[in-house]
Amino acid sequence: MIAEPEMGGIIKFLGIDVGTSGTRALIIDEHGRVVASGTAGHESFASPQLGWAEQSPQDWWRACQVAVRFALEASGARGDEIACVGFSGQMHGAVLLDAQDDVVRPALIWCDQRTEPQVEELSHLFGVNRLIQLTCNAPVTNFTLTKLLWVRENEPRNWERVAHVMLPKDYVRFQFTGERAIDVADASGTLLLDVAKRQWSSEVLSRTGIDKQLLPSLWESPEICGQVSGRGAEATGLRAGTPVVAGAGDQAAGAVGMGIVRPGTVSATIGTSGVVFAATDAPVLDPKGRIHTFCHAIPGRWHVMGVTQAAGLSLRWFRDRFGAGPAAPKDDARDPYETLCEEAAAAPPGSEGVFWAPYLMGERTPHCDPNARAALVGLSATHTRAHVIRAILEGVAFSLRDSFTIFREMKLPVDRIRLGGGGARSPLWRQIQADVYGHAVEVVQAEEGAAYGAAILAGTGAGNWHCVDEACDAVVLTAQTIQPDAESSAVLDQAYRTYRRIYPALRQI
Ligand code: XUL
Repeated sequence: MIAEPEMGGIIKFLGIDVGTSGTRALIIDEHGRVVASGTAGHESFASPQLGWAEQSPQDWWRACQVAVRFALEASGARGDEIACVGFSGQMHGAVLLDAQDDVVRPALIWCDQRTEPQVEELSHLFGVNRLIQLTCNAPVTNFTLTKLLWVRENEPRNWERVAHVMLPKDYVRFQFTGERAIDVADASGTLLLDVAKRQWSSEVLSRTGIDKQLLPSLWESPEICGQVSGRGAEATGLRAGTPVVAGAGDQAAGAVGMGIVRPGTVSATIGTSGVVFAATDAPVLDPKGRIHTFCHAIPGRWHVMGVTQAAGLSLRWFRDRFGAGPAAPKDDARDPYETLCEEAAAAPPGSEGVFWAPYLMGERTPHCDPNARAALVGLSATHTRAHVIRAILEGVAFSLRDSFTIFREMKLPVDRIRLGGGGARSPLWRQIQADVYGHAVEVVQAEEGAAYGAAILAGTGAGNWHCVDEACDAVVLTAQTIQPDAESSAVLDQAYRTYRRIYPALRQI
């Protein structure tokens, strides 16, 4: 049953996405139309050593309060008009709390690469094949379990204090509600879940010595798992008692927001990381463990995804280190990525032989190598910034194409491709993606990312829609379809073949 707002008025749903660079709160109405949003930045992640990535959970909660208040203010809605709240967030992080619910140490987040020894240990303890049988996934440094083992081995004093383990968005939800909860989609990225059975794996827990008591309770994404507490209401302006659904990790929530709910429609999202995502009716495994097999945010459905660690991050790295370019300072109001993409358009498809291998933070798909390093290859004295920026855009698209190549090997259908994230906003990056994938790509009308999916899950949990499929059919609409250009596609197809030879060559050095 839909929860009526206490004081009448229009029913609205709030989606909150606890990302890496910031938290976004988005309000939609009962037709799925965006009413307003608010964002607040996070402190950048700390990297006390090469490859480490840590953030403060308290900072996420601070940003969330600001973002929700901004969104409420911008919408003109009262807190009591929000009928239900959904959460989404960066996946895989390890938030460690003590018995008093205080944060024990900064969270090790999704892109932290320090846990290679723990990946090795797990591979020896179980054998990779057995781990794939138990969890549907091969161990990689990103997964939460490896972070728990790292803290236990390297910081025994901190580990002794740990009474609760949470993922980033679940910590923020805990501040809102006092409930320790997690959805099966986000839990899939811990390596502690039996993904096929959608429950914690007793074998992984017992053989690694992780006490189940440390973990939150498990829910399906659209299920109501708590209510905003008095404290949560005071901090955010919402009504105490507002129901809260379990939500999903940012990839599954983002997929819901783009209507990636049934087999055949696949998304390619370029945010900080880059993800190619397909829904499946059963857990489908890559025997080589190059892609992840996780529960979807829809009961009874799963998904596969290939992940590029540094997708949008490649462009951000270039901007931060080498500047946004001559076009940027003249007009401060413009998005620096927009000016970079305009600059890149001066170089032709294929960037006249310049290549970018985007392994700034190691790589997951297809190499599963935390020690992979990025490279700019093929420079000559005639090349310009435009060539380099275009090479970055193309290199990221090549990296996502690697996931499509694996999907083809696995015989997963790809009938439609929808673009998401920053890569969907730049006209040049959209065209590059159509040309590199050799397939038409679509952009949806409300390209609002994971917060939108979280809001749809909230609306579904509140009964506004019967199920996630029905919600997506009603609210996710295609805005534009971009066809590949035959000539550019041919050039980029050839370039992709060369790109594939870069990593094996680099690995030797
Ligand atoms: C997915 C992944 C990233 C993070 C950061 O596996 O690691 O998408 O969730 O957004």
